[in-house]
Amino acid sequence: MTANGRAGHGVAIYPGSFDPLTMGHMDVIARAAAIFGRVVVAVMVNPQKREPLFTLDERKAMIAAAIHDAGLANVEVTDFRGLLADFVRAQHVDVIVKGLRVVSDFENEMSTALMNRSLSGVDTVFMPSDPRYSFISSSMIKEVFFLGGTIDEYVPLAVLRIMRDKRNALR
Ligand code: PNS
Repeated sequence: MTANGRAGHGVAIYPGSFDPLTMGHMDVIARAAAIFGRVVVAVMVNPQKREPLFTLDERKAMIAAAIHDAGLANVEVTDFRGLLADFVRAQHVDVIVKGLRVVSDFENEMSTALMNRSLSGVDTVFMPSDPRYSFISSSMIKEVFFLGGTIDEYVPLAVLRIMRDKRNALR
């Protein structure tokens, strides 16, 4: 349901590394789910940036659990490899959703959005981050957690559980 109580329509894709999923991601997912008919959270298999800490299965499992716990019935999780533009075309997606935390996010995201539209014809809509989460990133969450800091406010409970398991396994 949208904010006006009407049912949303269209399929939105929310792509990312989700290494791990944060409350900032969950906020964007929940708000997108209130606008669009269906939201597909698409986990990139091998992010170019660096080797992910969490396996693809772990990242998908934490997202599925968080979606379930939040009661978001029109959200699902999948994975993709290669070009996002190819994936959105193959999946007949209507729109790509991206969160913007700070102005500097916009610089990268603007050119990425234009390239993705040029390659696929699919537009990107930007969701401004909730100020409560504008300073959160997956990399910062990992650093704080593995150095012993408290991250309970910044990740869904399902993620916290998987992170604790990972920390125990790495000990
Ligand atoms: O959570 P992230 O790491 O910011 O997500 C980045 C992601 C996965 C959305 C982005 O790297 C991506 O779309 N990669 C797919 C490869 C691709 O299509 N590259 C060209 C973009 S112009």
